[in-house]
Amino acid sequence: MSTIPSVTTDSLIRTRSKITTRSFQKKKKRGEPITMLTAYDYPTSLILDRSGIDSILVGDSLGMVVLGYENTLRVTMEDMLHHCRAVARGSEFALLIGDMPFMSYQVSVEEAVRNAGRFLQEGSMDAVKLEGGRERSQAIQAIVSSGIPVMGHIGLTPQSVHQLGGFRAQGKTAAAAQRLFQDALLLQEAGCFSLVLESVPERLAELISKRLDIPTIGIGAGGGCDGQVLVTHDLLGFFDRFTPRFVKKYADFSTIMGEAVSGYISEVEGGVFPSTEHSIDMPDEEWELLIGEIEN
Ligand code: KIV
Repeated sequence: MSTIPSVTTDSLIRTRSKITTRSFQKKKKRGEPITMLTAYDYPTSLILDRSGIDSILVGDSLGMVVLGYENTLRVTMEDMLHHCRAVARGSEFALLIGDMPFMSYQVSVEEAVRNAGRFLQEGSMDAVKLEGGRERSQAIQAIVSSGIPVMGHIGLTPQSVHQLGGFRAQGKTAAAAQRLFQDALLLQEAGCFSLVLESVPERLAELISKRLDIPTIGIGAGGGCDGQVLVTHDLLGFFDRFTPRFVKKYADFSTIMGEAVSGYISEVEGGVFPSTEHSIDMPDEEWELLIGEIEN
């Protein structure tokens, strides 16, 4: 396994500079799509950053794809900070966004500000993301006034899964779409630097993206957004308990990993691994000395 970056990756590293919230804004102005993926650990963060991703989200999807929960509701601040620190150690250029977990910003504006601050101070993140529409305006304003950039998230908001009646698409009626449209404007007014639109009709996402000055990042929201995000485990085919319809699998890691593990099991059981190639040798004279000492 080589740890030396390839020539292309290496030259990419040298010509890149750190992505900031201003870079997001500039990309929107220039009509350049923003790329974002999730990461929860150091090696994934290294690969995403070296590949040239604009932004890494330490999403609370962590609860489902890494910790094995049914939904994201049991993820804690401590879980998030632990994984944020690992991701921060692997990334040099991407804008790092920490996802505020359930109940870390809903109880009071004060708690929201304090917990948002922890993502920057203890998790080494550059910004935070939180879910919800107009009901989050006050908390967002307060966090932004503390100097912390906030990414909003509307549409399918997984922390409200019980209120929404499941992981289902949002904004499919004129009234629901109108409410999402207004929420988007209110979140921009509250100071969000960007907005995730999850599982909403493509034409609604496109309309919102055109009307907002801040960039929208879509997931299951079609090609009219200013950027796209996916859960990396979904994209890699590394989480096969279920796959949302909007996910495109770029690899089949579950199969690749399963084959590798089966190969290891059968080689160990068959005495094929480890071979001399994977074993440590000892100089003959030292061996003779040892045997002499043991046998006398
Ligand atoms: O938690 C997460 O990964 C997210 C993205 C799906 C936007 O919120």
